[in-house]
Amino acid sequence: MEKALVLVVLLALGANSEFSGYKVYKVTPKTQDHVKFLRGLSDETYFDFLKHPRSLGDYGDIMVAPEVQGFFETMLRGFSGTGLEFNVTIDDVQRALEEDKQEPSPRDDSLFTSFQSHADMNAYLRTLELRFPQVVKVVSIGKSYEGRDLLVIKIGSGDPNLPTIFVDAGIHAREWIAPPAALYIINQLLENPANVRLYQNVNWHIIPSLNPDGYEFSRSTTSNRLWRKTRQPNAGSTCFGADPNRNFDYYWMYAGASSAPCSDVFAGPVAFSEPETAAVAAHILENRNTIKLYLSFHSYGNMMLYPWGYTSALPENAAELQWLGEQASAAIERASTIGSQYVTGSSTNVLYEAAGGSDDWVKGVAGVSLAYTIELPAGGIFGFNPPERSILPMVQETFEGIRVFHDYIERKY
Ligand code: ARG
Ligand code: ZN
Repeated sequence: MEKALVLVVLLALGANSEFSGYKVYKVTPKTQDHVKFLRGLSDETYFDFLKHPRSLGDYGDIMVAPEVQGFFETMLRGFSGTGLEFNVTIDDVQRALEEDKQEPSPRDDSLFTSFQSHADMNAYLRTLELRFPQVVKVVSIGKSYEGRDLLVIKIGSGDPNLPTIFVDAGIHAREWIAPPAALYIINQLLENPANVRLYQNVNWHIIPSLNPDGYEFSRSTTSNRLWRKTRQPNAGSTCFGADPNRNFDYYWMYAGASSAPCSDVFAGPVAFSEPETAAVAAHILENRNTIKLYLSFHSYGNMMLYPWGYTSALPENAAELQWLGEQASAAIERASTIGSQYVTGSSTNVLYEAAGGSDDWVKGVAGVSLAYTIELPAGGIFGFNPPERSILPMVQETFEGIRVFHDYIERKY
């Protein structure tokens, strides 16, 4: 079927907000044709790429709406002669979600043995400011659409001119392991005296929860655990939110993004339409002269990605980005107790073209030469839902990579 025809069929079907009959397919492309076919679907409303294949031979996890499963399976079977492999890993997403919810989750307010609410994460940052007034400053950079405070914690020895490492997490709501990875950096810097040296010559700005409306929506038992976007309503549509990682104003909507408000990769009506992306961009611009490294935590897939996301062309310092990314990855792999293996590369070359990402904007517009998107490990049936006992091993190994980044910035600047 032609892509245009597929589109017409899709548009005629209208959108759905719950997951009865949705399936997840594990698909392993073996040729460039397979990859091209999958890429052609990735900005459509009826396909949600939980994980893109990292390269030929790696698998993708694709959630497919019931209306298009017939078409999808026919296409996949058509490719089977050329080696494409697929199977259904979740037969009914709604049922799987309900079963997942019933897993007993011991209530517990310790940071790394359970997933915290946005409010509890903010409360933790505020306590740290009281406990470590000499080294910590917590500043609100603005509010989410629904009015939640977007907090940045600044950690440093007091000299604002030192090179700064900027970290954000939680841009995508369902990627729950990302906020704890950022919180663990904060925790280790401040509460482990052995790490004091990590903020002697380098300042840190860390935003652990950048899309709180989406995050809380994904936590609510009555809503949608697989929510990815923000929660701002869209004019003329019943679908909410934009993909914040397609909403940054650099080659906005150039590739790998959708103009359909119901798509999971909807770029927004205009660049920076979302208060969350506008707020973080303003903060980064204000600090562009001191920020030397940008890190953005996502999940899942174990990838150390650097710009560009909008083109397969490489940035001028690709060799440096590649080398440093590999060093950090190697440190994580050495520390890993769960067998993590990272792939390092430019996000277009490892994954697919997707413009409007934070990393591209930070490098292309704010001029921060080192920028990475870190895709943390998968966990749980959906990849986005590691069991709570996995939080600590995942964030601990990640921190070993963060040390490598720190040491490089300290040495270089
Ligand atoms: N999984 C991430 C996303 O789709 C990867 C982003 C990589 N960066 C980029 N500029 N495309 O948002
Ligand atoms: Zn993400």
